[in-house]
Amino acid sequence: MTNSEQTTVLITGANKGLGFEAARRLGELGWTIFLGSRDEGRGRAAADKLTDGGAKVVMVPLDVTSDESVTAAVRLVREHTDRLDVLINNAGAPGRGIAPADATVEEIHSVYDTNVYGPIRVTQAFLPLLRAAEQPRVVMVSSGGGSFAVVTDPAQPFSKMHELAYSSSKAALNMLTVRYAQALPGIKFNVATPGEVANRKFAATDMNRHTGELTVTEGTDSIVRLALLDADGPTGTFTDRLGPVAW
Ligand SMILES: NC(=O)c1ccc[n+]([C@@H]2O[C@H](COP(=O)([O-])OP(=O)(O)OC[C@H]3O[C@@H](n4cnc5c(N)ncnc54)[C@H](OP(=O)(O)O)[C@@H]3O)[C@@H](O)[C@H]2O)c1
Repeated sequence: MTNSEQTTVLITGANKGLGFEAARRLGELGWTIFLGSRDEGRGRAAADKLTDGGAKVVMVPLDVTSDESVTAAVRLVREHTDRLDVLINNAGAPGRGIAPADATVEEIHSVYDTNVYGPIRVTQAFLPLLRAAEQPRVVMVSSGGGSFAVVTDPAQPFSKMHELAYSSSKAALNMLTVRYAQALPGIKFNVATPGEVANRKFAATDMNRHTGELTVTEGTDSIVRLALLDADGPTGTFTDRLGPVAW
């Protein structure tokens, strides 16, 4: 059951923003949505909205920085299914944009805990359920800021945003994805970035105080496309809604 009504997907950080929109769109296809949210109240409210629209949704309390929370999430998902077709590691922390000279290990560690160790924790914990699926896919939600090509291009705003934590965490996430893809050929691992890198556009969400020029629907195009990959689809790629993004 790869893209049928029985398809299951877990999305981290799905109580709002791009995670919520991805949940809405995949829910419209009839998929069962495991809606991850670190705050139960916010998660419940988001799940209720989708359920009211007719989607099949299970709210999963899930803080990606906590081993206990991730273990409890696996337990809860197992109560509903014996396989997970798609995992979308979407939860992300922007950091505080501290200048490199002032960035402390504590600041960087807290961003990595969400953006790097989070996807590792969640992916590892859900591997048995993913392996039980026919054509499992993992989508890592990264950023143009994780691309060396983008950050070193003077025409890209990222080249002038002087910070360490967010961009380096997303670069690490990109490499993790490639290494997982190489090591686990039975699961497709791909990186999506929500913006249009060539046009220097991103999607309006709380993370950027709604300054993005793209809608959340446009922002989730690359995420949804990678979630829907069939058996012939690629693994180990980095794309936005327009196509391949340079590493
Ligand atoms: N918007 C863009 O154009 C853009 C561009 C590049 C990359 N991205 C990436 O896209 C992803 C989604 O971001 P967004 O724009 O939709 O931002 P957002 O609206 O701020 O959503 C971020 C989500 O991540 C959740 N989250 C944060 N820390 C978490 C944790 N420890 N455990 C579980 N969930 C956690 C947040 O939960 P709370 O509500 O509890 O805080 C929220 O649900 C992020 O990975 C971001 O880096 C977005």
